[in-house]
Amino acid sequence: MSSPTRLILDTDPGADDALAILLMLASPEIQLEAVTAVHGNVGIEKTTRNALAILEFLNADIPVARGCSRPLIKSPHNWGESVHGASGLGQAKLPEPKTEPVGLHAVDYLIQRFLAEPKELTLFAVGPLTNIALAIRKEPKFAEAVKELVVMGGAIRSGGNVTPLAEFNIHEDPHAAHIVFNSGIPITLIPLDATYKCLLAPADVERLLKTGSPVAHFVRDVMADYMAFYSKYEGFAGCALHDPLTVAAIIAPELLHLEEHYVDVDVSGGVSTGKTYADFMKVSKKPANMKVALDVKGREFVELFLERIMSFIHAQGGG
Ligand code: RIB
Ligand code: CA
Repeated sequence: MSSPTRLILDTDPGADDALAILLMLASPEIQLEAVTAVHGNVGIEKTTRNALAILEFLNADIPVARGCSRPLIKSPHNWGESVHGASGLGQAKLPEPKTEPVGLHAVDYLIQRFLAEPKELTLFAVGPLTNIALAIRKEPKFAEAVKELVVMGGAIRSGGNVTPLAEFNIHEDPHAAHIVFNSGIPITLIPLDATYKCLLAPADVERLLKTGSPVAHFVRDVMADYMAFYSKYEGFAGCALHDPLTVAAIIAPELLHLEEHYVDVDVSGGVSTGKTYADFMKVSKKPANMKVALDVKGREFVELFLERIMSFIHAQGGG
């Protein structure tokens, strides 16, 4: 196996964010080197605390930096607690973290890390893009120092999940997304078009619970509110693995149907604010600025997710 992908994760944990962190730690193809927290599913104090608590629970000694508490321009949207619970981690009750975030703000931490090793580190973003947009604006050398950026966000041909057109991460800070999408960083976008085909069902969680492992109990508890929300509003007993699917870009790219297109986001402030659109007909004459996952072998990904979590549980002596 080639050397693992060294990566930094920008995240707003967040129930599915927690599962993305778990999958990264369970995948030998990945070396998770740091986590930066951002506002989103819940406020920045909670997302920072949750990142620290998740990593400690999973016995991962990985630094966390606290980031931006609100979008660049628009006002925050208090959508997340209805899906991720008041804590942001559903019904999971993790011990208060013993560690503290690093002293640097996440924006400065990202700039420091990527400029120290240009083109060596991959960046993942599974929350609003505020931290990354500010890093791009504050340090002109930042964009060229990022090897690759994988983003969970957007809805291309798919409808939205926070408005009829827009996906939450992009809608929460559309101006930041516009800056990131036009930064020149090599981007892979994982939108709702693909993530809604990766549905974790209660029966899948039951398979993990057979191990009796605290990690399996964590998966059940952290997803409890998320699954209840889907059952009530989306008519599905289960939930979409939005953030975990980004990990497929590294561990199973063959499961993704990727196309190169010019993609941008509506920042006009009207009904379609936050809508991501791909220039399929090349009418803008702009070159493609990203690879977009417009489809996925969803069930295969869910099975891979479960297999990796099982291996993580067994490696920890559980099950
Ligand atoms: O639209 C799904 C995205 O919004 C995921 O990242 C989820 O965690 C929320 O942040
Ligand atoms: Ca998220």
